[in-house]
Amino acid sequence: MPTLFDPLQAGELQLDNRVVMAPLTRNRAAPGRVPAALAEAYYAQRAGAGLIITEATQIRPDGQGYLDTPGIYSAEQVAAWRRITDAVHQRGGKIVVQLWHVGRISHVSLLPKGDVPVSSTARAAHTKTFTTQGFEPVSVPRALRTEEIPALVQSYRDAARRAMDAGFDGVEVHGANGYLIDQFLRDSCNDRTDAYGGPIENRTRLLREVMQAVSAEIGGGRTGLRLSPVTPSNDIGQDSDPQALFNAAVEQLQPLKLAFLHVVEGATGGPRDVAPFDYEQLRRRFEGAWMVNNAYDRQMALDAVASGRADLVAFGRPFISNPDLVRRLREGAQMAPADSKTFYGGGARGYTDYPSLDEQAVKA
Ligand code: FNR
Repeated sequence: MPTLFDPLQAGELQLDNRVVMAPLTRNRAAPGRVPAALAEAYYAQRAGAGLIITEATQIRPDGQGYLDTPGIYSAEQVAAWRRITDAVHQRGGKIVVQLWHVGRISHVSLLPKGDVPVSSTARAAHTKTFTTQGFEPVSVPRALRTEEIPALVQSYRDAARRAMDAGFDGVEVHGANGYLIDQFLRDSCNDRTDAYGGPIENRTRLLREVMQAVSAEIGGGRTGLRLSPVTPSNDIGQDSDPQALFNAAVEQLQPLKLAFLHVVEGATGGPRDVAPFDYEQLRRRFEGAWMVNNAYDRQMALDAVASGRADLVAFGRPFISNPDLVRRLREGAQMAPADSKTFYGGGARGYTDYPSLDEQAVKA
């Protein structure tokens, strides 16, 4: 069996090791929703990862749900992402962009004038988002009309094309955490009566169409997907039969030969055993690289790869505070704790100022 530090070919992605930087929203984008200048250093510092998945990045203006998150729909954004991908590649790393539409997890003040958030439903989530006014309840959404969905799918496709223009190695479609795609998947949220609601075949339709469109544009081997079958994030609620839903969702994607499937086990950033779910059943339905995430420590990650249970392990919070995480995992070195007060928004503090082991040694 391979180890966590062995290379892996995932579709078209040739990865140096099996440690992945999980997508992490940091709310530091510049005006115009352009990735911050500091993001170049931030991602370059973390280029030792086998693969970096960027912070969630909106595919179009109405896909935004929080203050100062970056987009990938304007030329200026693409140019800024190009500087970031160049910096990561210069350090020998690989980087994909996480393509995001928040759906109903948004607030009118973040959207183009006159827009309201769009979703599978017109029912609001009982949760808050961060705006210029601080934490505010999310706005009441409107249900997307059936005839609006082809343009939505096209927006994902266009974003994937721009990701290639920006020099990314591929994309990860964000199908997790109660955002737009999850809002269509789960019957706890989707109350539609058209071809995108009702039976599993219909609720998985948007995901299927998005994955087909993105794969057609850039190749399945450069396309990954993130799912979180039982997370309660963003007031999404549990599906009435998550196992059947996600088994079908994954099975239907088989012909696309996706590079990887990234599964959040349990509640994202919370308990791993929040609800029963057999992830092995998903894996049996997927041929590409199998990426796991959620509260992995060093031993769990070593075991997951050594036992063959996973091909790749994604780390979120540990990568915030340990830019050289791969080295620390390899050497069994001490991990720096992450300061949650600087997760969202701000400048260099808690972003680019966590030292590597070498920098720490120089200071000492
Ligand atoms: C996240 N997470 C997350 N997930 C995602 O799919 N897209 C995103 O943009 C973000 N943003 C984000 C920001 C911050 C500050 C945190 C802490 C988390 C979830 C993240 O990718 C991961 O699933 C969880 O953090 C659990 O993994 P760890 O941290 O236990 O390794």
